[in-house]
Amino acid sequence: MTTVDSNSLRELVGLVAHDPADDSFPVNGWDAVVWVVGNATLTAHYFRTVFGMDLVAYSGPETGNRDHHGYVLTSGPVNGGVRFVITGAVDPASPLAEHHRRHGDGVADIALDVPDVDRCVAHARAAGARILQEPHDLTDEHGTVRLAAIAAYGDTRHTLVDRSHYSGPYLPGYQPRSQPAGGERVFQALDHVVGNVELGAMDQWVDFYRRVMGFTNMAEFVGEDIATEYSALMSKVVASGNHMVKFPLNEPAQGKRASQIDEFLRFYQGPGAQHLALATADILAAVDTLRAAGVEFLATPDSYYDDPELRARIGHVRVPVSELKARGILVDRDEDGYLLQIFTRPFGDRPTVFFELIERHGSAGFGKGNFRALFEAIEREQALRGNL
Ligand SMILES: [Fe+2]
Repeated sequence: MTTVDSNSLRELVGLVAHDPADDSFPVNGWDAVVWVVGNATLTAHYFRTVFGMDLVAYSGPETGNRDHHGYVLTSGPVNGGVRFVITGAVDPASPLAEHHRRHGDGVADIALDVPDVDRCVAHARAAGARILQEPHDLTDEHGTVRLAAIAAYGDTRHTLVDRSHYSGPYLPGYQPRSQPAGGERVFQALDHVVGNVELGAMDQWVDFYRRVMGFTNMAEFVGEDIATEYSALMSKVVASGNHMVKFPLNEPAQGKRASQIDEFLRFYQGPGAQHLALATADILAAVDTLRAAGVEFLATPDSYYDDPELRARIGHVRVPVSELKARGILVDRDEDGYLLQIFTRPFGDRPTVFFELIERHGSAGFGKGNFRALFEAIEREQALRGNL
């Protein structure tokens, strides 16, 4: 998805200048987030009607695919924005049925748009990555797509896609469908995808993305100082050269509370994608739309907004704080600017993958300040009740 309005994207997801010529594993951006779910038909309907995505392509028994359903949905600019592919088994013997039995609803593939699949795979192989699929072409009347796949954490994979010689709606085997969003558009781009990995594995995966894919560390990390006190997780962030693709990686930490990462690892049966941050130009409208459609968000205590210390930290943002408070939207601020964010409750039946909505105003962070702020705010309330 390269032909995007670069100005709006730059703001939405915080892009930086980058020369792909001196990149051993150049990445243009996201290609698709491929989900495996228990009911692709209903899930696709949900993303169309609730999250305001357009259905653009379909694969299934009617198109000669007797194994599974695949629904391709997009949000954001034409030829850009976000592509979700929702897949679910039709044939009980489909590998997708087994994937779903093991992991529940989740992200199986974070596919990346690359200009040179073969160069990427050669570099990945030399760096010791596990190649799941060698480079190969798929062709139909719309042209040719070149693809390969490498293994990431757990059962997650990165398919590498060069669709520069292809004009179809997704991949050969998919037929165009034109069903516009059934609800209001709520997001325009994908900001980051967070991976949860096992205790002690975070640095190993940071190293993987640096070594294999040439990603670089972003400044934000949550170390033991914050982790052990408040969040029960440790986190580092790696990003592609242009910062289009950002992967925070979490591992559990021993904290005051049972680790949310441990819970994920237990119910997902291993490492996997924990949350997808959807970039929106208007988080207030997005939250109102989603909430009206029944999407549940994590609650934020009133003290988060009323506490003078926190109020000072929030500073001046584009709307009155009362508007944020009414919706439970969080603010994080750094030297470059601020961001507004909010998290949904888990998306499926298991306490695993969920969504974040994020509206950036200069900040390149991920909301680290909210870890401490939120837990401190909760503790102040606890203390008021005499329970701390
Ligand atoms: Fe996030």
